[in-house]
Amino acid sequence: MQDFARKRALITGAASGIGRALALEAAHRGMHIVACDVAAAELGTLAKECAAAGAPSFETVALDVRDSAAVEKLAATLYAADRGIDVLFNNAGVLQLRAVWEHSTAEFDWLIGVNLLGVANGLRAFVPRMLARGTPAHIVNTGSVGGFLPAPSFGAYGASKAAIQVLTEALHHDLRARQANIGVSLLCPGAVQSKIFDAERFAGAGVEPLVGAASNMRDAVRDGAAARGLDPRAVATMSFDAVAANRFWIFPHPEMLSGLADRGASIAVGETPHFEFAKTWRIE
Ligand code: NAI
Repeated sequence: MQDFARKRALITGAASGIGRALALEAAHRGMHIVACDVAAAELGTLAKECAAAGAPSFETVALDVRDSAAVEKLAATLYAADRGIDVLFNNAGVLQLRAVWEHSTAEFDWLIGVNLLGVANGLRAFVPRMLARGTPAHIVNTGSVGGFLPAPSFGAYGASKAAIQVLTEALHHDLRARQANIGVSLLCPGAVQSKIFDAERFAGAGVEPLVGAASNMRDAVRDGAAARGLDPRAVATMSFDAVAANRFWIFPHPEMLSGLADRGASIAVGETPHFEFAKTWRIE
């Protein structure tokens, strides 16, 4: 898709970080915007900023991506009003850092529910309607380098993101098999400046706040991302450029690709997994 003007983008998790930047980039490119977030109140001034940046329309939707009925209802409402989606960003995601066995059932449900099933809900609601509409469309799912490079304390999050990688590659194959005019991309960021390390404010009942070593670990990673993470606006620009080029992989941190190559080589020779934070993630 080369020309975005007057096309319609739907972005989940649009109130903050990468999602917010995607909305502003969509506005710069002249798109109608459907901005969804569980924290709709935090969408705040985004409507005005997008209008100023060039969006012909902006719609705020309070949406929990875990609520499959709500996602289905949103899609039905949009398509019934001839407001089909041209670019879908399944971006909403949450993070909680703990040793694998320390995640409660509720915390696993939350992480997998938002990061994996939230994307599945978006695909179930929108792909059939995109296919029926027949106009060119594109889907960008947000994974993470954490889905490729398993790290201590990132087990549950990384598992959800590894699943997104598999799901998104399979989505690409499923659509190609049907010769669908729908492009697919997988956005795999490393550290980006955002509020992801404060995600536990949305967790709800049964999810305990981090304390002690886990809290210290989260604070250290949060400080590193704040100091050295990418500006989400750069991630948004790269994402739109990838959609324009119909490119599957979006790696905003190309310096981390060598970590991927190292991991593949290590698996190929049967090495026991080892983890060095700086080396694996290419973070100084
Ligand atoms: P963020 O926390 O700044 O933004 C995430 C947004 O998702 C928030 O506005 C939040 O309200 C919303 N959200 C949370 N739960 C939701 C739900 N159930 N339904 C709908 N919206 C919900 O975080 P960020 O970094 O912008 O995250 C965006 C995506 O990027 C996520 O999928 C995340 O996993 C991914 N990512 C982020 C990285 C980073 O370093 N910031 C690195 C790799 C991937």
